Amino acid sequence: MKEYPNVHILDHPLIRHKVAIIRDKNTNTKQFREIIGEIAMLMAYESFKDVPTQEIEVETPLEITTQTVVKENSIAIIPILRAGLGMVEGVLSLFPAAKVGHIGLYRDEETLEPREYYCKLPINIERKVVMVLDPMLATGGSSVSAINMLKKHGCKKIKLMSVIGAPEGVEKVAEAHPDVDIYVSTLDRCLNENGYILPGLGDAGDRIFGTK
Ligand code: PRP
Ligand code: URA
Repeated sequence: MKEYPNVHILDHPLIRHKVAIIRDKNTNTKQFREIIGEIAMLMAYESFKDVPTQEIEVETPLEITTQTVVKENSIAIIPILRAGLGMVEGVLSLFPAAKVGHIGLYRDEETLEPREYYCKLPINIERKVVMVLDPMLATGGSSVSAINMLKKHGCKKIKLMSVIGAPEGVEKVAEAHPDVDIYVSTLDRCLNENGYILPGLGDAGDRIFGTK
């Protein structure tokens, strides 16, 4: 795949270990859900390195000191329904004050085009750093569409976090939105004729919610 300055592959042995477990078709719903959350937490640690901060005064038992903390009301996370929901708790475990919006998209099974069915965003979203969550970046259609929606609502600082990316999809988002930082834990080989990522992990939504 071509190199893009806005694409970040978070290749970490601990994340690779967890991805290997969720790829396994014998991993059950409970384990799958827990591990997707853990991966999201580890990815959030890396991808929010540039989180907005502010200085506050703290009184230690000995003196008053100026300290740096995460800026209040600065972050929103936006899971793409359904599968993005599996990443929410993991990110909130590090950023408990983040606001959460939801974008509902599903892929038309024939055309693979994303169809929008829901959008509810936090107030003042245009002033926040917005992280879109979707474990699978396949053709890239869903992510491009979600980011388009956020830009229409005035968002200026947008990031995307996906556990597994296909090169085709990562390129599509990187080119459509060069101002958006894309964080992928693993870059897979390609898509199959049905738009599934290979080797991938199957249908992330079905595996998180046990619907198949
Ligand atoms: C899956 C996945 C992504 C999308 C990725 O959702 O969770 O949102 O496909 O594919 P793309 O990059 O080709 O757009 P799906 O449409 O299966 O909906 P679901 O999460 O409700 O199962
Ligand atoms: N959506 C998924 O859940 N899995 C894929 O492999 C592709 C799209």
